[in-house]
Amino acid sequence: MVRVALVGLGGFGAVHLAELDRLAGLGKVELVGCADTVPPAPAAAEVLERRRSVFHERYEELLEATRPDLAVVATPPHLHAEMAASALRGGSHVLLEKPPVVDMAEMRVLEELLSETGLYCQVGFQSLGSGALGRLRELRRAGAFGDELRVSATGHWQRDSCYWQRSAWAGRDKLDGRAVHDGALANPFAHAVMSCLAVLGWESLDGFDEVVVERFRANPIEVDDTSVLRVRHAAAELVVAVTLCAETVREPVCTVRGTLGSAVWGYTGDEVALDLAGRGASVERLARAGLLEEIVDVLSGEDRELSCPLVRTRGFVRLVEAITAAPVREIARSRIAVEGSPAAASRVVTGVDEIVDAAASRGVLLSELGL
Ligand SMILES: NC(=O)c1ccc[n+]([C@@H]2O[C@H](COP(=O)([O-])OP(=O)(O)OC[C@H]3O[C@@H](n4cnc5c(N)ncnc54)[C@H](O)[C@@H]3O)[C@@H](O)[C@H]2O)c1
Repeated sequence: MVRVALVGLGGFGAVHLAELDRLAGLGKVELVGCADTVPPAPAAAEVLERRRSVFHERYEELLEATRPDLAVVATPPHLHAEMAASALRGGSHVLLEKPPVVDMAEMRVLEELLSETGLYCQVGFQSLGSGALGRLRELRRAGAFGDELRVSATGHWQRDSCYWQRSAWAGRDKLDGRAVHDGALANPFAHAVMSCLAVLGWESLDGFDEVVVERFRANPIEVDDTSVLRVRHAAAELVVAVTLCAETVREPVCTVRGTLGSAVWGYTGDEVALDLAGRGASVERLARAGLLEEIVDVLSGEDRELSCPLVRTRGFVRLVEAITAAPVREIARSRIAVEGSPAAASRVVTGVDEIVDAAASRGVLLSELGL
């Protein structure tokens, strides 16, 4: 039985709490305690009571009082490094939500602690647990896509004013003097960046041949809501083009394209559509490992690898540094329409869906499209 503590119960913490409740039901974990600065919502309070789990307002007290085997950290990004470091120093393994840290300096602190203690840190990039990723990597390594490899991702989401107002850190670059970096590429579409890196096998790289970023905003926020990232390295290209101001909402997609064929993976799922020279078109459905259950199983002695150990997010954090160094420009008001009720209004950018698709499929920046 792995003793687990959860830090951050609201927002995405509710997903971890539900999973911990399920794993406790299977007899795999004991939920020894939780911490949040605000009292648990009724649904969370019910789970805590049923699992006889103690609630603390301060996470330090939770870690001190329970000394868990595993600490799950689902708090805002600017708190991750401090909380993960504290858990590791206390002897706990960590499951850390994405983005794991805000820069390489924080990354190095956690890496040193991991190497000193021999503890594990799994990062919550769920798509890395997908068998679809393993299949794409295998095909890439076998040369099935040919040359001139481009791995791209597109994201067309809409986020309304409630989303930007839900937490003090939402839409902020800095909060109380600390870096938060809640931009479209660094946070909501972090999975898009990470999935592309992982397909290319670039996830642990320390540097890339060329990184260019263009960031824009239509919302009254400090960060970007519409952006393009292009990375060139070792004769391949990674492009992520995303918007949170879409005209039509679509699930994000990762596309692999080379001289011999292509693959399309909706990375929130596990289905891959392949179209390869000599093999024709096919659709494959693969399995997915849940990242929390996976680390619990490893701590229980099962012989399996973690899908997303911290070291696999090095390339991502390097890119976050490049992304957050790029200026954010305002989109012209004439291109912005406001949809929905005044209480939950969404800003929609005219023509943005087509622009995002063109950038990703052609590997071009918005400035190169004449915008
Ligand atoms: N893996 C995913 O798909 C996914 C999805 C959504 C969010 N996330 C990540 O999860 C993290 C949290 O995001 P969110 O949207 O749930 O944020 P949120 O602000 O909605 O919730 C964060 C929770 O942490 C609590 N908290 C804040 N400061 C705290 C402190 N000092 N001690 C204890 N608790 C504290 C808040 O009260 C809140 O309950 C972020 O890193 C985010 O990127 C991951």
